[in-house]
Amino acid sequence: MNDFLKKMRDDHHEFDRGQLEDQYGKNPYELFQQWYDEAQHGEVLEANAFALATVNSEGLPSSRILYLKELDQEEFVFYTNYQSRKGEELAANSQASMLFFWPELQRQIRIEGKVTRVADSLSDAYFASRPRGSQIGAWASQQSQLLTSRQELEDRIAELEKQYTGEVPRPPHWGGYALSPESLEFWQGRASRLHDRIYFERKGSSWDVCRLNP
Ligand SMILES: Cc1cc2nc3c(=O)[nH]c(=O)nc-3n(C[C@H](O)[C@H](O)[C@H](O)COP(=O)(O)O)c2cc1C
Repeated sequence: MNDFLKKMRDDHHEFDRGQLEDQYGKNPYELFQQWYDEAQHGEVLEANAFALATVNSEGLPSSRILYLKELDQEEFVFYTNYQSRKGEELAANSQASMLFFWPELQRQIRIEGKVTRVADSLSDAYFASRPRGSQIGAWASQQSQLLTSRQELEDRIAELEKQYTGEVPRPPHWGGYALSPESLEFWQGRASRLHDRIYFERKGSSWDVCRLNP
């Protein structure tokens, strides 16, 4: 075995930061909120960053990191470009998965469900709250499309700065999506890889909850 492989294999973490015995309750949103608050107020650098996995029309998966911006009416909201790769994939297949990993707390949360666009009024309100540079950026970036040079982007930004001297309107191709969960899994690392996994599955207006093998 080469040194690199050996080092990877020896990279062994013990999980001893917590446990999910029977105090997890019956409401996954309350547990999410509790863990999120602990991540935000603890040492987690970017508690609101998660990996969004989507699949394209041929069933091929892809993932990328995004920021969670709201937990609104039991839906998880994020913002992006509707014409981006993820936007196209979500248009082809609205099923997606979100994954939060908070290593400092030895926790992972997996959320799966259907994604829909949020109301324009919600996107407008969030867009209006963003710094001007990000607003101009949303117009300038044809996210996920080919860019011939950095200069091309800088030129587009300079043009837009001249065009929008006052308020910047929200581009029609930019806005929010909301994931409505069908299932959530809370994972707490434990010693000897005998982790706690609590799985919530939607059953109409309530949730079935069970424990999974680690
Ligand atoms: C920490 C972090 C946060 C990010 N947040 C967002 C976000 O909220 N919205 C977004 O469109 N892209 C965000 N990105 C960029 C995406 O990861 C990705 O590069 C971009 O959305 C294009 O993805 P796509 O080509 O799959 O559509 C973020 C990247 C990182 C590393």
